[in-house]
Amino acid sequence: MDVLATNAAPPPIIRRADYQVPDWLVPTITLDVDLDPAATRVRATLEVARNGTHARALVLDGDGLEPLAVRVDGANADWHLQDGDLVVQLSGDTHLVETEVVIAPERNTQLMGLYASSGLLCTQCEAQGFRRITFFPDRPDVLSRYHVRMAADAERFPVLLANGDPVAAGLLDDGRHWAEWNDPFPKPCYLFALVAGDLQANRDTFVTRSGREVELGIWVRAADLAKTDHALHALKTSMKWDEDVYGREYDLDVFNIVAVDDFNFGAMENKGLNIFNSRYILADPDTATDYDYDGIAAVVAHEYFHNWSGNRVTCRDWFQLSLKEGFTVFRDQGFSADQGSAAVKRIEDVRGLRAAQFPEDAGPLAHPVRPDEYIEISNFYTATIYNKGAEVIRMMATLLGPQRFRAGSDLYFQRFDGTAATVEDFVSCMEEAGDIDLAQFRRWYTQAGTPRVTAQLRHEPGSARAQLSLAQAVPPTPGQPHKEPMVLPLRLKLFGGETGRALTEEQLVTLTDPAAEVTFDGLAERPVLSINRGFSAPVIIDAARTPADLAFLSAHDDDPFARYEAMQQLMLDTLVLSVATGRADHRAVVEAVGNTLRDAALDHAFVAEAVLLPSESFIGDQLAQVDPDAIFRAREALRAELGTALEREWRAAYDATEANRFEYSPAAKGDRRLRSVALGYIAASGANDAAALAFRQFERADNMTDRQGALVTLAGGTSDERVAALDIFYNRYSDNPLVLDKWFQVQALSQRDDTADTVAELARHRDFTLANPNRARALVGAFSVNQRAFHERSGRGYRFLADQLLALDKLNPQTAAKLLPPLGRWKRFDPARAALMRAELERLLAVPGLSKDMFEQASKSLD
Ligand code: PHE
Ligand code: ZN
Repeated sequence: MDVLATNAAPPPIIRRADYQVPDWLVPTITLDVDLDPAATRVRATLEVARNGTHARALVLDGDGLEPLAVRVDGANADWHLQDGDLVVQLSGDTHLVETEVVIAPERNTQLMGLYASSGLLCTQCEAQGFRRITFFPDRPDVLSRYHVRMAADAERFPVLLANGDPVAAGLLDDGRHWAEWNDPFPKPCYLFALVAGDLQANRDTFVTRSGREVELGIWVRAADLAKTDHALHALKTSMKWDEDVYGREYDLDVFNIVAVDDFNFGAMENKGLNIFNSRYILADPDTATDYDYDGIAAVVAHEYFHNWSGNRVTCRDWFQLSLKEGFTVFRDQGFSADQGSAAVKRIEDVRGLRAAQFPEDAGPLAHPVRPDEYIEISNFYTATIYNKGAEVIRMMATLLGPQRFRAGSDLYFQRFDGTAATVEDFVSCMEEAGDIDLAQFRRWYTQAGTPRVTAQLRHEPGSARAQLSLAQAVPPTPGQPHKEPMVLPLRLKLFGGETGRALTEEQLVTLTDPAAEVTFDGLAERPVLSINRGFSAPVIIDAARTPADLAFLSAHDDDPFARYEAMQQLMLDTLVLSVATGRADHRAVVEAVGNTLRDAALDHAFVAEAVLLPSESFIGDQLAQVDPDAIFRAREALRAELGTALEREWRAAYDATEANRFEYSPAAKGDRRLRSVALGYIAASGANDAAALAFRQFERADNMTDRQGALVTLAGGTSDERVAALDIFYNRYSDNPLVLDKWFQVQALSQRDDTADTVAELARHRDFTLANPNRARALVGAFSVNQRAFHERSGRGYRFLADQLLALDKLNPQTAAKLLPPLGRWKRFDPARAALMRAELERLLAVPGLSKDMFEQASKSLD
């Protein structure tokens, strides 16, 4: 592990500008892995080739490795270790370099490299885990053919998997067995994987459009086999979708997925052998919510799509991470949109962007989609790289239109197949195939910060003309005090304020200057502006529309996203005013929500999204200074009023969405979503029977969506049923870690006054462990985004988080560092809270042996 000694110099900063081509290439590697949880012997044979004319030594990255032997062309070599790396002096241009190390997967708590999880052995190499397995040039622009031989105890590890195709297997005489796998596609080492365990497969086949038959397998413990059908179905659907929509066909004879319980992220796209966090594979109606089902399909698709966007074309260096991640998120979003309601999917994605990426872009950890420097690359698997990166691709798709975007994608895959490419390569392909100049557009990759657009529509009563003034500004971010104007594609349309008729067609106005004017003529009535429809640009719009106009759009706009957006803006304006003045006028919101609820033409999933109040933290993001208690009170007051004023509507929605049998379909999912939202509002109304109603739903539910929905409502209240439901839930699922995560999470997100106490207690619960990232995130991660509880005036929330981070940093710095950002938002709070938050960051930084992951996040957060 890379740790900092006390008084050590700060860890080095890696800069994009310093990129150099590799000194040595490795056309082939043969790995011989003798697997054992306590001592695994790894022998590697590398064919190395000097790249260009230079006299530099071969440097193989290593992290915590001890070379037991190093041979060059079969003879003892001239080598030494330097900061853990193996330096070998070589005279010729090509050599065979052999190394041997022993590693201990069962002691690997970082979950990087080769590690043990619930009795199986598996690997995680992205970004820099391969160097914890063997000495190697651990950088994505070194592509090699892999041949892997594994041996292991046949009883404990009957299944041995690696990338590519299986070539041979056999028994050894000491109760062990072996298998060999060969991957014909050259790949960077971050895509290497192997798995050994007692696993069973849910198998199927997929015939590609050119007639290749692919063997599919989803590998899990025997007891979990029944929970893999949804993932398998999603895999086949994704394979077909990528052929139909992007013309991308699968290229190996097998495609395997393995589910593991201990995993730092969601899943990993290793060539032909994806490894997944089990939460993104395992599902049945009793244990997984609709949200989980959707997440599984999206992540299965995401990892599968990486086979082209990431694997066949990979990244030249880690600064290009969004090349594969932004594009692949955009691709998985398109896939999910095609499986159900595209509008609801867009609403969910924008909600997620605003919850995670906007705050990141507005805080001390803001960075461009293509960063210029990092200390620890693991810290850059962020919402900016993934989700803002996807928005940037989406804007290019909007500017080019579907055909030219597809042509650009085809050109990119064709031109860069088998290579390690850059963001610049991708944009150039779009430019070439789209016959468009993207010079200014490239600022989306270099400038951090969320652009703000002000839009003002002027119209004289009775006039047929209206004038729209647009202006943009990009706020300063760390290291970038001054910004240049961006290319902002804004879809907009005017509606008649009296009749609700469309007054114009939708048009795409691309703002490239700091300000611009757009004139509309031939208007028959007063126009109302609908702007950034479909969220065509990832920006903040300030359009200064009246509550009446927003309510009007929420009922009449013909773009469902814009309808949702108008309602959100109306709610937000109402709440911001009530936080600021302490006085609330809820009438416009009540009326608009009532109209939406009574509109029988609307899809229930859409209604459920549209009537949800903005989160406390999103309200906070609109304010000059966040007052968590005032925000909580204002939001609760509006929630209660909506509950009371529309009680009849909520009850009608609740009753109309009752199902007598579980079904997994978009309509049934929409019903369940609306039902839980309605239940929440009935409870907010203070109705006497609310807890009984929730408890009845909790007990009768034949699926986790309804059960968890009821539990959330009960857990936020003070009824006797609350304790009963939590106990029943715990006992029913005490052997299911994924459901226990929900039990922890629901309590950590609760809006009760005593949540901080509850969370402190839960951290001592016998089922709580920081060693499992899902569990750590379910309690610590959830609590730190519970705005009121985390920011409790005394600062105990901050202290709790810092304590957990310090404990987790010793086990798993990567996962610890990802939980730190809420502590870095101190500038957004009052001086007393800010001081308490800073004190915790300073306490962290003073700890000897802090990981460089945490050092980077904490030190940047203090600035
Ligand atoms: N590359 C993975 C994905 O987004 C994420 C990941 C990164 C997983 C690092 C593990 C480690 O699909
Ligand atoms: Zn990815």
